[in-house]
Amino acid sequence: MKAVRVHRFGLSHPMQVDEVEDPAPGPGELLLRAKAAAVNPVDLITRIGDSRRAKLLTLPYIPGDNIAGEVVAIGPDAGGFKIGQRVFGIAFNSYASLVVAKAAWVGELPEPYGYEEGAALPSPFFTAWNALVYTARVGAGETVLIHGGAGGVGNAAIQLAKRLGCRVLATVSSKEKADFCKSAGADEAINYREEDFAARCLELTGGRGADAIVEISAIENFKKDLEAICVNGRIVIVGVGIGKELAEANFRVQSLMEKNAAAHGIVFAHLFPRLPDLIRRFSPLLREGRFRMRVGRVFPLDEANEAHALLQSGKVLGKVVLKF
Ligand SMILES: NC(=O)c1ccc[n+]([C@@H]2O[C@H](COP(=O)([O-])OP(=O)(O)OC[C@H]3O[C@@H](n4cnc5c(N)ncnc54)[C@H](OP(=O)(O)O)[C@@H]3O)[C@@H](O)[C@H]2O)c1
Repeated sequence: MKAVRVHRFGLSHPMQVDEVEDPAPGPGELLLRAKAAAVNPVDLITRIGDSRRAKLLTLPYIPGDNIAGEVVAIGPDAGGFKIGQRVFGIAFNSYASLVVAKAAWVGELPEPYGYEEGAALPSPFFTAWNALVYTARVGAGETVLIHGGAGGVGNAAIQLAKRLGCRVLATVSSKEKADFCKSAGADEAINYREEDFAARCLELTGGRGADAIVEISAIENFKKDLEAICVNGRIVIVGVGIGKELAEANFRVQSLMEKNAAAHGIVFAHLFPRLPDLIRRFSPLLREGRFRMRVGRVFPLDEANEAHALLQSGKVLGKVVLKF
């Protein structure tokens, strides 16, 4: 099969398309003919080579973990799927034409969704679920401040928070992104380049603050989040800021105490055991057809380096996807 592989860490070393042996599904696994794989920030972070995840890998490795495709073989004890079924979900080594997936980590891709959008759904929506449902436990009527509302996680969080009955304030850096967030359901968009997002959040909540905050760039925003959060609020740190994984932040600890607030970090690795529950609960909502993930740009597998460069540039609205 054809696969993109990283032979050397560092973004200056291009990935290569190689011919490698076809994988076979083991117990509890499916073999998928990949139709599309999303390119996520973590794919770039891992390629740099410094992260905890990168240190567990042996070179050369096949990047990617978001997939949409069709089931072509079913391993022992991987019940509930049919040959030819359209699925989406999490599977390691997804930048390849054949991908082995744990059956418990994928779900059926319902009709309204094409494969490219299907591949773009898992990381953003599963992370939004982790932040809003499992961690912040938001409820109807609460106000949620979502940073990076035009990004994958932020946009999924806007849609999920609205579906859960919350009022949503989203931060963005441009008018185009503000319009995009509003079309996804945000009640208000705050341009953090033009105004102080914490002051605006307090203004929009009558001085009370947001009940929950989804933070994707904590090194930059955490101090201000402590101003924007309400008493007993929950700040979920999803990202520290791309390229800032080793940076440290200074904040006044007393501010967290004064708000009786919780700051809760999450990483995807700890979500894996909960994926079966998440997919079971997310699937009926997905079948409603209202959760959408905009695909900003599609590249053939051979152009994975160009796809990474585009994501790194930040000059794309919507997800970057590889197509097979
Ligand atoms: N912990 C987890 O489980 C988990 C899972 C998935 C992703 N992540 C992390 O979460 C982060 C976001 O992922 P993603 O897939 O949504 O990335 P993405 O699609 O590239 O979106 C990132 C967004 O962040 C916005 N942004 C950048 N700096 C900002 C700031 N200071 N304040 C507010 N918004 C800012 C950008 O929009 P503007 O141009 O408007 O600034 C961009 O839309 C990444 O760091 C990723 O690694 C973590």
